[in-house]
Amino acid sequence: MSRTPRPQPGRALATGPQPPPDRATATGPQPPSCDDPFDLIRRHFSPKLALAGSFAGRGATEAAASGARVTLSDGRTALDFGSYAVALLGHRHPAVLAAVRAQLDVLPASTRSLANPVAARAAARLAGYLGADSAQRPLPKVYFGLNGADAVEVAVKLARLATGRGRVLAVRGGFHGKSLGALALTHSPLYRAGLLGTEADVVHVAADDAEAVRREAARGPGLAAVVFEPVQGENGAAVLDPAVLRRWCEDAHAHGAFAVADEIQCGLRRCGERSVALAAGLPVDAVLVGKPLGGGVVPLSAVVCAEELYAPLAADPFLHSATFGGHPLSCAALGPALTAIEELADHGRVLANLLDRALRELAARHAGLVGAVRGCGLLRGLDFTGARAAGSVVVGLAGAGLLVSPCLGRPTTVRLLPPLVSTEADIAEAAEILDAALTAATPAAPERTAPAAPRRTAPAPRPRL
Ligand SMILES: Cc1ncc(COP(=O)(O)O)c(C=O)c1O
Repeated sequence: MSRTPRPQPGRALATGPQPPPDRATATGPQPPSCDDPFDLIRRHFSPKLALAGSFAGRGATEAAASGARVTLSDGRTALDFGSYAVALLGHRHPAVLAAVRAQLDVLPASTRSLANPVAARAAARLAGYLGADSAQRPLPKVYFGLNGADAVEVAVKLARLATGRGRVLAVRGGFHGKSLGALALTHSPLYRAGLLGTEADVVHVAADDAEAVRREAARGPGLAAVVFEPVQGENGAAVLDPAVLRRWCEDAHAHGAFAVADEIQCGLRRCGERSVALAAGLPVDAVLVGKPLGGGVVPLSAVVCAEELYAPLAADPFLHSATFGGHPLSCAALGPALTAIEELADHGRVLANLLDRALRELAARHAGLVGAVRGCGLLRGLDFTGARAAGSVVVGLAGAGLLVSPCLGRPTTVRLLPPLVSTEADIAEAAEILDAALTAATPAAPERTAPAAPRRTAPAPRPRL
């Protein structure tokens, strides 16, 4: 296997920006002496990130991608069943690329003083896609952000403004992003450590506690919203009980609070339905979508919600805005992305069944290593008997040609997120690679401490940096 060439001293000086003479001779931090990406990542991002990337790619970087496959800088290819759920349409879906290219040629950025038709049409398309006209619970209003956390923060902000109340209920194990407002709803203490105060006015309730909303609402009139993921992606593909969620929605409404379904990971057919909550008939006031909304090409997220929840923003659209919100390049991708997702929805069900069968067979064959198969649709998790085993399998799989994602909130689960554009042969190939990796993995030794995040428990990569 070839590796990225080692740093060539002085190369950056020959081709990159020249440091001023006094800095060139200084003893303090020096500019990079080469353009080796791992050295640059180590210097400018994090040594741990460089190490993890180097280990996963066995010294190669990601270089190109098409459909379900990524090509590495050393020419190897890997099936992408990871990408943290963004690549639902695979990479560089042609219809999405064409729309983004066309937009790039005419008006990639908005003036933000003139009306932008691309964002307006995208909003109408998305609201229609999620059933804006549904008699059950119309959700005609849209806010566009770029990341999932943007959408979460706007939904919470609107719930607080619309109710004049502060308290928000979120779910244990839930993940809603890492920016400060969204982080307050994310349950894992791993990401909240050292940030005391972010959790103000957020209460995390157990996923199986059907009485939680009623009980919390009875504590006083302060409840603004309950926010849940119908399927918790980062918590190891944990499917929440729709009967509990229904009860939460109804109790929230009975107390004048809102119910918000965060489907940034599980929505848009990742789990089979356009919206898991709406398909289950849950009377939610908002559905949050993101990740594949920009077709896997451009960043885009959205709050799609009821008039009542959106009312503060309808009254004053400047209550919340962001320079790149509703960016034309991103919004141009939305229509073709939704069209492609719908065209592939039936195929997705076939893939999901195949994957389910393959994972169950693997779990049975490697029962000492794999405890359970979790999730639904194309959001699946293999739950390992220990975090160390899960971490080493994730890294080993990447080297063997299958990219998967660890779970940020459940380090014992390895997540598989095949794109809708995968073929049946891709699923079979992934199962073969998994089988070989599981066969090679030694059963996890008893672990001395509580499970830690995979990035901390993955076997130490061979030093390369
Ligand atoms: C359910 C859910 N909500 C919110 C987020 C945050 O999204 P982003 O990382 O784009 O901010 C994620 C990210 O994984 C998620 O899975």
